Amino acid sequence: MDISNSETTLLITLLSVLLIVWFLKSKEPLKGRLPPGPPALPILGNLFQMDVKAPHKSLIKLSEHYGPVFTIWFAGFPAVVLCGFEAVKEGLIERGHDFSGRYLFPVLKKISNGYGVAFSSGERWKQLRRFTLSTLRNFGMGKRSIEERIQEEAQFLVTAIRSKKEIPFSPNFPLRCAVSNIICSIIFGERFEYEDKTFLTMMERIAGISQALSSPSVQIYNNFPKIMDFLPGSHQRLFQNVADLRNFLNKNIQSHKESFQKDLPRDYIDCFLIKMEEEKHKPDSEFIHENLLMSTMNLFLAGTETSSTTLQWAIQILVRYPQIQEKIYQEIYEVIGSRRRPAIEDRAKMPYTDAVIHEIQRYIDLAPMGIPHMTMSNIEFRGYLIPKGTFVVPLLSTVLKATSQWETPKSFNPNHFLDENGCFKKNESFMAFSAGKRMCLGESLARMELFLFLTTLLQNFVFNSVIDHNDIDISPASSGILVTPRVYKFCAIPR
Ligand code: HEM
Repeated sequence: MDISNSETTLLITLLSVLLIVWFLKSKEPLKGRLPPGPPALPILGNLFQMDVKAPHKSLIKLSEHYGPVFTIWFAGFPAVVLCGFEAVKEGLIERGHDFSGRYLFPVLKKISNGYGVAFSSGERWKQLRRFTLSTLRNFGMGKRSIEERIQEEAQFLVTAIRSKKEIPFSPNFPLRCAVSNIICSIIFGERFEYEDKTFLTMMERIAGISQALSSPSVQIYNNFPKIMDFLPGSHQRLFQNVADLRNFLNKNIQSHKESFQKDLPRDYIDCFLIKMEEEKHKPDSEFIHENLLMSTMNLFLAGTETSSTTLQWAIQILVRYPQIQEKIYQEIYEVIGSRRRPAIEDRAKMPYTDAVIHEIQRYIDLAPMGIPHMTMSNIEFRGYLIPKGTFVVPLLSTVLKATSQWETPKSFNPNHFLDENGCFKKNESFMAFSAGKRMCLGESLARMELFLFLTTLLQNFVFNSVIDHNDIDISPASSGILVTPRVYKFCAIPR
């Protein structure tokens, strides 16, 4: 009996040890089977291997050593980086659902708390994305289509630029106002004069948020939020700008609540309020105030900065290459003429212009790291085990500039999108809007804006610079979340 007791004790002890080992092993291998990567320091991770002024460049360099899928460490959390066409396609398209989450960096968590279409995941994101896409698509935005709104705004832009009277000016401000007015009319149902005080304040806040998001101080915040919360820096200005924008949007939503009519939605906010009303008895409805506020903020920010920065780049590149600017004008002249407003149906007849716009987007590589993705469950990928909730970086830059996919990836070359007969040629490596389930929600709006604004401007003006065009530097001024151009003044000479 004694022996049997000690045997039982031994057996129980052995079983417990085995259970503990199994439990620890079941957690460890997951960590242990992350893709390889550079050795990381405790607490600091790979912070010192990152160029805070151009993080994507550090990642590209690391991929040369560690291959298309590798891991880097931030303070306490890993990021799996996908590089090159094959890996990004496999992750975002073929394994779309697995990688469809949005990883919330501390700064994004503090700003959004996981609400809104751009920073939510799972069921909340699915519902908000479906609703937002169908609202943008079906609404046709009320009485007038989005196309008409852009055409009308393009004329306001021409008037604003004509008022410069050929004096050198930076086109950045009027371009940002024009583009922002499109998203304003979709969200709020109104456009603003370029001198309107409230509008100008909001433009400043948006520019401030976009600059701060790429600042070194925000990158340090993402590593050490608890300490940085008490320290001064651009991250504090970022939070203040977001608070101001929230105030502005909240006031706007309130005035919509007071005036909206169920059967006559005027804009995105009205449509969302109607949906809130329909689902007010559903306890788990995602159509709640915080999701309205954050989705509106997402659209306002994403819809202003991206297209307007692309147009700034476009003008700069076309001044740098006057012969390309002239060739586009010839196509405009032949297809549209000098009086009729450019329309979206003209695009199919203007392969050269279409190719140049695509090449501008490829070359500038506006969002080189996309927006952070996240794994939705424990997944096996290329022989590695990536745990649920891991931060994933689709390095779009390595697709847009892949030597295997483009003839001259480093130089500006519209032939990348033209076949031997001069017809427009698609390329599946064109991932400026990312790819898969989380691909840019505003892609078709953005493509309309780029075509209509650019053709209207070139129909009306020749853009040139006060310095020799060969001296215009078309390398980036800064490369954070968005890659921005250097600031030049240009003359707009009426045609
Ligand atoms: C040239 C212009 C634009 C570019 C290059 C661009 C690029 C991108 C990229 C790279 C993403 C990340 C996709 C991902 O997570 O994989 C994105 C997401 C997004 N974009 Fe754009 N974008 C542009 C214009 C716009 C416009 C005009 C809007 C306004 C409707 C917009 C709204 C959004 C939203 C809401 C998301 C988040 C989608 C989601 O999380 O499901 N974008 N965009």
